[in-house]
Amino acid sequence: MSLSVQLDTPHAGKYEQPIGLFINNEFVKPVDGKTFEVINPTTEEVITSVYEATEKDVDIAVAAARKAFEGPWRKETPENRGKLLVNLANLFEKNLDLLAAVESLDNGKAIAMAKVDISMCAGCLRYYGGWADKIEGKVIDTTPDTFNYIRKEPIGVCGQIIPWNFPLLMWSWKIGPAIACGNTVVLKTAEQTPLGGLVAAKLIKEAGFPPGVINIISGFGKVAGAAIASHMDVDKVAFTGSTVVGRQILKAAAGSNLKKVTLELGGKSPNIVFEDADIDNAISWVNFGIFFNHGQCCCAGSRIYVQESIYDKFVERFKERAQKNVVGDPFAKDTFQGPQVSQVQFDRIMNYIKAGKDAGAKVEIGGNRKGDKGYFIEPTIFSNVTEDMQIVKEEIFGPVCSISKFKTKEEAIRVGNSTTYGLAAAVHTKSLNTAIEVSNALKAGTVWVNTYNTLHHQMPFGGYKESGIGRELGEDALANYTQTKTVSIRLGDALFG
Ligand code: NAI
Ligand code: MG
Repeated sequence: MSLSVQLDTPHAGKYEQPIGLFINNEFVKPVDGKTFEVINPTTEEVITSVYEATEKDVDIAVAAARKAFEGPWRKETPENRGKLLVNLANLFEKNLDLLAAVESLDNGKAIAMAKVDISMCAGCLRYYGGWADKIEGKVIDTTPDTFNYIRKEPIGVCGQIIPWNFPLLMWSWKIGPAIACGNTVVLKTAEQTPLGGLVAAKLIKEAGFPPGVINIISGFGKVAGAAIASHMDVDKVAFTGSTVVGRQILKAAAGSNLKKVTLELGGKSPNIVFEDADIDNAISWVNFGIFFNHGQCCCAGSRIYVQESIYDKFVERFKERAQKNVVGDPFAKDTFQGPQVSQVQFDRIMNYIKAGKDAGAKVEIGGNRKGDKGYFIEPTIFSNVTEDMQIVKEEIFGPVCSISKFKTKEEAIRVGNSTTYGLAAAVHTKSLNTAIEVSNALKAGTVWVNTYNTLHHQMPFGGYKESGIGRELGEDALANYTQTKTVSIRLGDALFG
């Protein structure tokens, strides 16, 4: 097998898809020469196979990242690190159509949304390019005969494990701050969606990064992912994915070299609509809050709470709105919702739908597979739910939500917080007092008011409670990729003769 294949997409035409592991700026075959298949979720057919990294390849990639870190990269100026990230951002923009098309092919996301993802990737990379020469320490005066300063130093080799729901966006969120701060990276893409990360790897070389600074590998969680998490020469691991795996990563870090860990995990976010909200806007945001990216968002607004006096009207109009979401071929211009990413995710979601029906929840709309080819699921709204139902407690990660009513502000806050997660929440109201009081009371890393899912690379994002550890994006993310060194210089004589 060669190290690339010719693929075709309806949006960007034919292109050269790399399939090797990207280590030291070259695509290489893995030691054991294994491959795995990449499935098109729209057709359920095999797109291609790509090479699979095992522990042995993780060792090689980590060694490359170590060599770069201790060698030339360490001496690279902050200004040049910034330039390289900006070059990469520019290349994302230049190749926007191709990268978006690969995301749609591999993940099934609607092409219109995939294009937004890629411009957000460019925005994020450029933003962290801007930070590269603004990472500063300070001087701390203690006594007149000492001079003390602190430096913000890179952590070293960073292992980064990303999911399949926003393959290239997560790639950028991880790589941007790590590189800005002067680290080197071994990033493992999700086994469901390896293609975009490999196309973007070509751009790393084109942008001018020295070999070994950013290494991209394809592989499975239990093999390559676990090898990164327990590696003795990886200084930090950043993970986005399920809470179950997040716990395993923490254990692997604890059981190996106590590498630093940041986790971006799941959610079961409340979307709360008060009776004074602008109802058209609220419905639009509630619909976008749950059905965007086919419900495959860690911050999806999957628990919808509507104040009693407007509940019936809201449910009727929300149903009408959700039925207008165009579900189908991700490459069609008007498609809003494509297929779920994989058979496994499709089955998991259909099992949740069955659990909801079995528990006595009412299906307002949806509840079925759509069509008989591809992992398509109808937008599904459950009412008549109770707090103890599985569909209300657990993350479904699909186009499925529950809707129920509340009477008072206090009740809205209580039910909103009635979850082990704390990634996001939203409040819809025209009252400034209600907006501020409720958003302050909600235990979530992001609270949206009269909007939803409007993330931006300038604003920190991350979880309270079991939704994670640390914050990505914004200035906050720099803390994940730097460590503080205190240097204390004695100016006076010896103290203890
Ligand atoms: P996952 O947590 O298994 O996969 C995410 C990443 O972790 C992938 O790159 C995977 O290869 C890697 N991984 C898996 N096991 C690992 C291990 N033992 N050590 C190191 N890395 C490992 O998520 P999965 O199975 O794809 O989806 C299951 C559920 O997780 C979803 O239904 C959803 O609820 C949640 N999820 C949340 C995401 C988020 O954005 N927070 C993204 C993807 C999934
Ligand atoms: Mg898994």
